[in-house]
Amino acid sequence: MSPAAVVQTVTHSGLRGRGGAAFPTGAKWKTVLDTDADRKYVVCNADEGDSGTFADRLVMEGDPFALIEGMTIAAFAVSATKGYIYVRSEYPHAIAILEAAIQTARNAGYLGVDVLGSGKQFDLEVRKGAGAYICGEETALLESLEGNRGIVRARPPLPAVRGLFNQPTIVNNVLSFTSVPVILHRGAEFYRDFGMGRSRGTIAIQLAGNIKHGGLIEKAFGVTLREVLYEYGGGTASGRPIKAVQVGGPLGAYLPERHWDTPLDYEAFSAIGAVLGHGGIVVHDDSANLGRLARYAMEFCAVESCGKCTPCRIGSTRGVEVIDKIIGSNGGMQQIELLRDLCDTMVHGSLCAMGSMTPLPVLSALDHFPNDFRRNDAACDIEKRTL
Ligand SMILES: Cc1cc2nc3c(=O)[nH]c(=O)nc-3n(C[C@H](O)[C@H](O)[C@H](O)COP(=O)(O)O)c2cc1C
Ligand code: SF4
Repeated sequence: MSPAAVVQTVTHSGLRGRGGAAFPTGAKWKTVLDTDADRKYVVCNADEGDSGTFADRLVMEGDPFALIEGMTIAAFAVSATKGYIYVRSEYPHAIAILEAAIQTARNAGYLGVDVLGSGKQFDLEVRKGAGAYICGEETALLESLEGNRGIVRARPPLPAVRGLFNQPTIVNNVLSFTSVPVILHRGAEFYRDFGMGRSRGTIAIQLAGNIKHGGLIEKAFGVTLREVLYEYGGGTASGRPIKAVQVGGPLGAYLPERHWDTPLDYEAFSAIGAVLGHGGIVVHDDSANLGRLARYAMEFCAVESCGKCTPCRIGSTRGVEVIDKIIGSNGGMQQIELLRDLCDTMVHGSLCAMGSMTPLPVLSALDHFPNDFRRNDAACDIEKRTL
């Protein structure tokens, strides 16, 4: 196949990035293909920072050659010569397995200066991330790969045009790359035959938190949240009723029961003000306090913010304070309005999704579980911490 035909096949398959933003993979590859440069790069985002997620780790540990193959196909499609796999340092087994697999592939001629006698060069290197959530954001990841502090870059230019070392760069999640071999092997039609609407193929659902049968299941898009929670997860581990479910990592919304019949589909989730993200699902039973979880979301943002823009850097710290005041004043309306106003500023004024999505868990908790923002357990905890 020609490089353009490979890009066309990936485009036709309907594959969208599995790292969280669900951007069409083929469109990203086409931009890199169409951008002239002496050097191009392929970067795999294996930072996997979302709470309750482990699908990338399981694929890297269980089938590292699928990732090597997917990245090599990407390199062939855009004429890239070098690739990096950016893995979080908390994954030592994945790192060791990938390094051994890369050496095996190199020895067998699948990587190196003349890949399988094609005259094309491509090699891979594993790089360890140091544990910052923001280094999963693609531009902060590129900064980190270049040896700099992980700070988000303003866009444009897109990484596909000017990415690693200012060269056109494909950045994709592990699951996006590992979907590619099957797409080329079985054909775009085979792949797009799974799923619903614009969410084609399969989703790796990771069940975690207070759930009886935690783990990874792969299903075509379209299965409902309720089916996943009860038919696969078997309800909570504690045996108590499920109260709220956070889908899509720490920046995902908290969903009450009335939303559990929503199919796992990017657009259906967007319609209820939620995200699918990387497919992580964290379950909470009725002993959870959503006021405390909303406070945690703001605190997480304050700790993990890269600090580049004000709405996120300052807003998250002010957010923690305002939530404390809401709880302290028994759900005081004035402070709630202030929190909504602050979230509005974060949504519209933040440079990246870290700041603009933190309001999702916060506001969903406030909208669906307002009683948890009253002076109760959460307030007691805060008082204990202050003492
Ligand atoms: C704060 C933040 C953290 C992110 N963390 C990850 C991550 O751990 N893994 C990942 O693949 N994408 C993560 N992303 C999304 C990446 O920026 C980017 O969209 C992705 O690597 C592109 O690959 P894909 O199109 O295959 O999804 C994160 C984004 C943000 C804003
Ligand atoms: S939103 Fe937060 S993490 Fe993103 S660029 Fe601004 S300060 Fe950095």
